Amino acid sequence: MIPQSFINGLLERIDPVDVVGKRVQLRKVGNRHTGLCPFHDEKTPSFHVYSDGYHCFGCGAHGTVLGFLMEQEGLSFPEAIEALAASVGLEVPRERSAARQADPGIYDSLAAADRCFRRWLRQHAEGPGAIAYLKGRGLSGAVVRDFGIGLAPSGWNSLKTALQSFDEDTLLAAGLVAKSDGDRTYDRFRQRIVFPIRDVRGRVIGFGGRVYDGSGAKGEGPREGEPKYLNSPETAVFKKGQELYGLFEARRSHRRLEAAVLVEGYMDVVALAEGGIANAVAALGTAVGETHFNRLFRHVERVVCCFDGDEAGVRAASRAIDAAFPTLSEQRELRFVLLPEGEDPDTVVRRHGRAHFEALIDAAKPVGEYFLESLQAGLDLAVSDNRALLVDLALPHMGRLPAGTLRTVLVGDLARLSQTPAGMLEERLNGGEARAAETPARTSTPTTNPPRSKLDHRLLECLVKHPRLVHELASEERRRLIEAEPGGLLAHVIGYLNGEPDADTATLLGRFVGDQAYPELAGLAERPTLLSEARLRTEFIDGARRYLEECERNARLALLNNVRESGSMDDLRKLRRRRA
Ligand code: UTP
Ligand code: MN
Repeated sequence: MIPQSFINGLLERIDPVDVVGKRVQLRKVGNRHTGLCPFHDEKTPSFHVYSDGYHCFGCGAHGTVLGFLMEQEGLSFPEAIEALAASVGLEVPRERSAARQADPGIYDSLAAADRCFRRWLRQHAEGPGAIAYLKGRGLSGAVVRDFGIGLAPSGWNSLKTALQSFDEDTLLAAGLVAKSDGDRTYDRFRQRIVFPIRDVRGRVIGFGGRVYDGSGAKGEGPREGEPKYLNSPETAVFKKGQELYGLFEARRSHRRLEAAVLVEGYMDVVALAEGGIANAVAALGTAVGETHFNRLFRHVERVVCCFDGDEAGVRAASRAIDAAFPTLSEQRELRFVLLPEGEDPDTVVRRHGRAHFEALIDAAKPVGEYFLESLQAGLDLAVSDNRALLVDLALPHMGRLPAGTLRTVLVGDLARLSQTPAGMLEERLNGGEARAAETPARTSTPTTNPPRSKLDHRLLECLVKHPRLVHELASEERRRLIEAEPGGLLAHVIGYLNGEPDADTATLLGRFVGDQAYPELAGLAERPTLLSEARLRTEFIDGARRYLEECERNARLALLNNVRESGSMDDLRKLRRRRA
């Protein structure tokens, strides 16, 4: 925690013109300074710096000098304060909060562990086996050093013993040791190749450990009953949802990092660096989330997601789209490339070399294009139903995009594909529909629980008031209505009326006396209506058709989602049949 009083004092001492002037060439005009805006492309200056901040009249970018540093240098708030303070020779005081107190010890113990692991790779009796494994995977000593790859030897106490000078609570808090049921502590990482995870400043905040076969043979498979990779647990300094493996190393090897390749694994990052592609990063044993993209886009303007072409990769890509959409803007570019099935970036760069991999990255699809293509998979858009389905599939995700150029372009593309007026799509996006997807769409897909309109309630009301309306429907339609929600109240009522064609409202209600649905039905019967029986009749027939269409669409949506999520051929066949 940095005391607010310090921040205020610091800002008073800082002249924004100095700070901004280091990065943008400014010219004094009257009492203001102007220059070419660093946030958008322009030929005449519309960027103004004042005593309390900046404003661009071209693109509307504005903020304080702190905000400017955060945007321009990709710094977090505390980092920006540090940078400003350092520029005027001040040290940032920290208020000690309880949660933070342990941190220095945690960082120190992690740094000490890191030194041990690296030393053991070179000097431990088990080192040569580990080195042989790394060599077998094509890694040179230089890259192993750059990434600080090390070795956790077998045995339960190597690290614990080596870090005796730290108290056990610190080692536990750092995630370096774990506790057994009997309350004994032991090394978390044993007999594994260890990848240190560093934050953007280069401090070690955790580790990932991979099993390896010490004999130096291929040894790709996990050891009996053990996960292939073991990662540090969440600690006070290691938050999986935020950190990106390789970001520190990528920034270190570029004077100005413009783009990053987001891959799935530790080995992909390292193997790409070995192959000469030093800007790969990976999420750490978790799916990439919105926070990852926000972080990444603070440091680069272009991200290319490069995932495996298998089912898991396709799923990762669609999850990444949902995570990234809210973070996108005109200045942030996102692309996707899916590798051929069975390959990952590691194998591609090793088999085919750097130029080949770079060509794949260059040919990556813009996110909008990839998004619409992935939704169309298996949909024949010559069929109008499928075009409507495409719109239904796309809109909830697109609602996560901030309004702006990308969204407008995407709406235009979707309009063209679905032969729907763009204005109509915009209207649906701006209406309530988009909000349904505020939680990642994955959890709101109708796979298990199709969203249902209030139509069934309306139908129920018509039937309770005029039970004979049921005969207005063909028996086939009645059957489908029952099947739409087999255990539902509407199904029960129609089922009953099928067997009692002469029932009136009183008979119908009589059948349900004592049933838990009774109050609802009685309520519907009593609800006043201004509609004549004739109007109710058309409403009922119309409503039933729309309701059936809706159910059908939901069922297809659920199937399609299953197909996309599980790649289930069975579902795909069902879908084809339904469409036929
Ligand atoms: P992969 O299985 O694709 O790993 O998992 P990889 O990096 O290609 O590893 P190699 O090539 O087999 O050595 C991708 C990522 O998922 C996480 C790790 O972060 C890994 O890098 N993962 C995987 C785990 O956390 N635990 C596991 O058991 C497996
Ligand atoms: Mn791999």
